[in-house]
Amino acid sequence: MQNIDEIGKQLITQIAGSDSPRDVLKAPELKQLYGVIKTLPSGQRAVYGKRINELKIALESAVNARESELESATVESLDITAPWDVNSGPQNLLLTENGSQHPLTKEIENVSDIFTRMGFEVIESRQIDDDHHMFGTLNFPDNHPARDGYDTFRTEEGFIAPAHTSTMQNRILQDGKKKLESGGQIGVVAIGRCFRNEDLDATHEHTFHQCEGVFVSETATLGQMLGTLRSFFEAYYGQSLNIRTQPSYFPFVEPGLEFAIEKPASLGGSSKDKEWLEMLGCGMIHPNVLIAAGIDPKKYRGFAWGGGIERLVMLKYGIEDIRHFESGKLQFLREFA
Ligand code: PHE
Repeated sequence: MQNIDEIGKQLITQIAGSDSPRDVLKAPELKQLYGVIKTLPSGQRAVYGKRINELKIALESAVNARESELESATVESLDITAPWDVNSGPQNLLLTENGSQHPLTKEIENVSDIFTRMGFEVIESRQIDDDHHMFGTLNFPDNHPARDGYDTFRTEEGFIAPAHTSTMQNRILQDGKKKLESGGQIGVVAIGRCFRNEDLDATHEHTFHQCEGVFVSETATLGQMLGTLRSFFEAYYGQSLNIRTQPSYFPFVEPGLEFAIEKPASLGGSSKDKEWLEMLGCGMIHPNVLIAAGIDPKKYRGFAWGGGIERLVMLKYGIEDIRHFESGKLQFLREFA
């Protein structure tokens, strides 16, 4: 009996320090202890057997305790991507099977669905481009100061990290030309990452997303554009909205407008002080942009718009700082899980 206690103590110490605690249960001393049972006179077997059972239970729980200790240590050391200030302990880590969609991914799907239902084709915008698509085909004259407004990142080779999804306009128009010629229309929405080298604050981030729309037909009008945009925002926010436009300048549209919605009460708007939220830039596609894509501006006309996705999502969920999106903070992401 004393033997059982001694061996038990030894094994429990071994388990507590072992990297493979379950292997300790295969120790020959244990087998020997178990074997003793058969050699005992029947009167002693019950008592001995009970002690052995107690030992087994104690060893098993020591093994379990050690295994979970090892497991949490492994999770902690493996998660090299977790921000140190958020994940102070292993209990805070998201298990992969509990992962969730990034709020932007979810909302981009939402936006795509709405435009798809309205009859637009939705494509992804490029993340690397050239001066020709970003500026040249969009009626920015060489060395024009309007180019500076876009705080563009450039590679040493002269490529550009697009500062707006309008970088897709020329391709959309070129690809759609055949449709126009066979009596159809161009209706495409391009969504993707954009980059600007600007000072960061709660409403400015170097990496963000835009949604660009391009529509061309023989009869497109500004009124159709405003109707399309209003329908989109009303579908996105699930309520009717007041809209407002103001003249604005973009070289690739004429006239150019800024499009705003009135902050609805359900999203924190006050009924006394109207608050207009500028959501995007838009306008009738400039004839030079159509010409650059080989489309005759005397025969066809179109409208285009482009606006930030983050702004849309921030208003929907009351997110106060745009920098949360790219921060990788699990605390923020969990709110959308
Ligand atoms: N590309 C413009 C911007 O990012 C927005 C815009 C798109 C304006 C299409 C007019 C037409 O500022």
